[in-house]
Amino acid sequence: MNLSAETVQTVKATVPVLEEHGVAIVEYFYKDMLSENPELLNVFNAANQRSGRQQAALTGAIYAYAANIDNLDALTSTVQRIAYKHVSFNILPEHYGIVGRHLIKAMAHVLGDKASSRILDAWSEAYNYLASLFIDVEKTIYHEKENAEGGWRGTRPFRIRRKEKESDLITSFYLEPVDGKPVAHFYPGQYISIYIRPDDYDFHCIRQYSLSDAPNGKHYRISVKREGSEASKGLISHYLHDSLNVDDIVQLSPPVGDFFLDPEETTPVVLLSGGVGQTPVLSMLNTLTINKSDRPIRYVHNAINSQVHAFGKHTRALSSQHNNIKQFLFYDAPTQHCSGHDFTGSLDMDSIRQDIQLPGAHYYFCGPAGYLSMINSTLKSWGIPESHIHYEIFGPDHSV
Ligand SMILES: Cc1cc2nc3c(=O)[nH]c(=O)nc-3n(C[C@H](O)[C@H](O)[C@H](O)COP(=O)(O)OP(=O)(O)OC[C@H]3O[C@@H](n4cnc5c(N)ncnc54)[C@H](O)[C@@H]3O)c2cc1C
Ligand code: HEM
Repeated sequence: MNLSAETVQTVKATVPVLEEHGVAIVEYFYKDMLSENPELLNVFNAANQRSGRQQAALTGAIYAYAANIDNLDALTSTVQRIAYKHVSFNILPEHYGIVGRHLIKAMAHVLGDKASSRILDAWSEAYNYLASLFIDVEKTIYHEKENAEGGWRGTRPFRIRRKEKESDLITSFYLEPVDGKPVAHFYPGQYISIYIRPDDYDFHCIRQYSLSDAPNGKHYRISVKREGSEASKGLISHYLHDSLNVDDIVQLSPPVGDFFLDPEETTPVVLLSGGVGQTPVLSMLNTLTINKSDRPIRYVHNAINSQVHAFGKHTRALSSQHNNIKQFLFYDAPTQHCSGHDFTGSLDMDSIRQDIQLPGAHYYFCGPAGYLSMINSTLKSWGIPESHIHYEIFGPDHSV
């Protein structure tokens, strides 16, 4: 299917209107769609909608699509990333019809007279085109995941085999498939989705967790931070910490994600993380050491203090046992009981520049949004090519 020149022109011409009304359209769209299709409450995260992050992500995607409609190749990597996320939520082709119908209805409602039937038809045609792109990419991912050794489609029951406190805030869960068969391989940095229906809850909730250890074919490990304050506790992270225990069963999606270490690379690798953002890069570090990699590795981590610093003993041991690994540990606000850190305060890239600006290095980082944008802009200012910069955000908004 190709879009007509007229459709392309009409969609591009509506970009300024979208910019003006994009958020209102997406807000109306979610409310209307979820009231008519309450089963989708099983899929969409209420907290992400409350915070506006989900709306911002979808608005951003629609805007990017409109701006690039005559150059869709520019969106290939974005489509791939979103498709991985959709697969982890088990989004199916029939969902696209529901979203499309409510999106066009929302445009008509919010734009009123500004949305002629010509504009709505053009958007409808363009949406169906984009939806078919996603459906095709997702079909390929579902197929690969289902047919990989140890793979599956949708969800698979896993038993919590071990639950281990890593710090005052972070606990690891070792998850083994109930069927006792192997688990699919993953690339270090990738994530699974966990499907949980808390007691007294009408819908199940889906959350992503990066796999925090190297692949081993038998089980997965996730490491979860208690999210939020007493007044606004994160639902699933608290449920995992407080209500789920060894032998309890959860459902998992197969591992996916576009943030991963390429095992074939031989270049130096710099891993940077803040707080629980450590999980995907720890999987990378563990994989590199298990594979006896001799790549120069720099492991930079920020924690508030030693009470909330997870895996400190482990990464310290790795850096003292392997000459190619150098660790740089920052404590933002150390207490008098803290020791072993190299720097006090937030990450200062200049203070470690000569240690981490290695020729040809690839940079992988994960942490809070402000931390990511600071690293991203610093690396760019050092002249690091974009193709060597890789990061993960623990939420629906990827604008760093
Ligand atoms: C690719 C990816 C990988 C991830 N990997 C990890 C990982 O390895 N480890 C990890 O711990 N997390 C990870 N996350 C984050 C994880 O998926 C969850 O988002 C996180 O655990 C919070 O989920 P929750 O259900 O506890 O919080 P939610 O209930 O979803 O709430 C989210 C936030 O909103 C706040 N909130 C909730 N209710 C209210 C309210 N009424 N008013 C105001 N604020 C409110 C909460 O305090 C919380 O901070 C990852 C996310 C992604 C996308
Ligand atoms: C062409 C249509 C669509 C576009 C452009 C789109 C776009 C997006 C974007 C940009 C994100 C954020 C991805 C990220 O984390 O980086 C996202 C996430 C998501 N999408 Fe879609 N999407 C589309 C269709 C659908 C459909 C049909 C469904 C299911 C009904 C769906 C459900 C979701 C869910 C559940 C998330 C995760 C949100 C979260 O993390 O809270 N999407 N989508």
